[in-house]
Amino acid sequence: MTIDANTLVNSDASLISRRCWSDPAVYELEKRAIFGKAWLFLGHESQIPAPGDFVQAYMCETPIILARGEQGAIHASINSCTHRGLPVCRADHGNTKRFVCPYHNWSYTVAGDLVAIPQERQVCNKPDKSELGLKQVPRLESWNGMIFGSFDADIESLEDYLGDMRFYLDAFFARFPQGIEFVGSPHRWLIDANWKLPMENQLGDVNHGPYLHATIIPDAANEEIINCGHSVVTTPGHGATFRLMPEDTPVENVAWGFESITGQTGGEELQDYLRDIQAQAAERVGPLRARMKGLTYGVYPNLSFLWSNASFKVSHPRGPGKVEYWSWSVVPADAPDHLKKLLRTNYTSFFGPGGMVEQEDSESWMQQFRGANIDFADDRPFYYGLGMGEEKPHPELPGLVSGTANEFYARAFFQRWRDALLAEQGESHG
Ligand code: FES
Ligand code: FE
Repeated sequence: MTIDANTLVNSDASLISRRCWSDPAVYELEKRAIFGKAWLFLGHESQIPAPGDFVQAYMCETPIILARGEQGAIHASINSCTHRGLPVCRADHGNTKRFVCPYHNWSYTVAGDLVAIPQERQVCNKPDKSELGLKQVPRLESWNGMIFGSFDADIESLEDYLGDMRFYLDAFFARFPQGIEFVGSPHRWLIDANWKLPMENQLGDVNHGPYLHATIIPDAANEEIINCGHSVVTTPGHGATFRLMPEDTPVENVAWGFESITGQTGGEELQDYLRDIQAQAAERVGPLRARMKGLTYGVYPNLSFLWSNASFKVSHPRGPGKVEYWSWSVVPADAPDHLKKLLRTNYTSFFGPGGMVEQEDSESWMQQFRGANIDFADDRPFYYGLGMGEEKPHPELPGLVSGTANEFYARAFFQRWRDALLAEQGESHG
């Protein structure tokens, strides 16, 4: 069946068809229209500090090796041998001089150049190895240590793509003298849901907190969200939610980490450390951003950040009804090791496959996906109209700003998503 994206998302994106999440044909179109045209998050420079270091990554369903070459440059190669397609790298992360394919032992440098074909000694016509390296991701850029790749050679620069989201991301990164680092390998697990469901949740859906997470999130936090909560869309598809605390708020009521089990019971040393960071926040990020107590962020199409428990997440599609979710713990780069450990414990208690909050969210995404597959309900699309038109420019904050009950973050995402599908169809028809 031909897809008409205008029937999937209406003009103001207040009504969204269940087929957006469940239709295999929509998914196939998304691969080219969304994942073929966007900047996709690959990893953080702190994961590959030394020459020869590598980690695995994905761009949609395409496996990628992200590696630091001998001269220190970063490379992103498609993890598929140019002989018969096997993955040449099987470890999740490590350090190496060569990737050697297990089938016929062709070997490649960490930059992806083909350097040895054992069988060529037995043939007269030698292949041109310079033409047979691993396929490189056409665009690779990083901002503040965050490395992104794109299959679109003509895409705008990463800085332009992120736009004003940099202002909000830096409200966290720049709080710490040495920035942040990613700890260890990501948690990875499969969820029976569509990739857009986690993404929409973290772009701005903080309103499920008092209900879905009623037993975990303290009443005081819910009160703060109602009284001080802000939802921002910088560019459609990118969004941030946070509380902007009053100017005279005591340090520990703004400090990152204090809402967590570790923040509250992690001991005096950790609490002092977190208070110190907050006490210096105005110097580092300015007085306005120092008052931000972050909630969730989303970067189009599938990267998100949970500030209060410090994790970055990527929602990798594996078909319309399956997500391979990757989730990293993030800590201040210059924190003492034992405090980094405590902060990571905090993250795993709330998020990751065994995290208390994650369990409740994952269950909701699976149920929502089932709701998107119900027969005889096509004439009842999902309602996305809450707070329509209430978002406004703000005197100090970049982007359009509103209270957190306004679903404009999701409408903006789906308008961009719909327009990307239409543009892709226009290109393939034209
Ligand atoms: Fe890799 Fe043959 S498939 S060497
Ligand atoms: Fe949640």
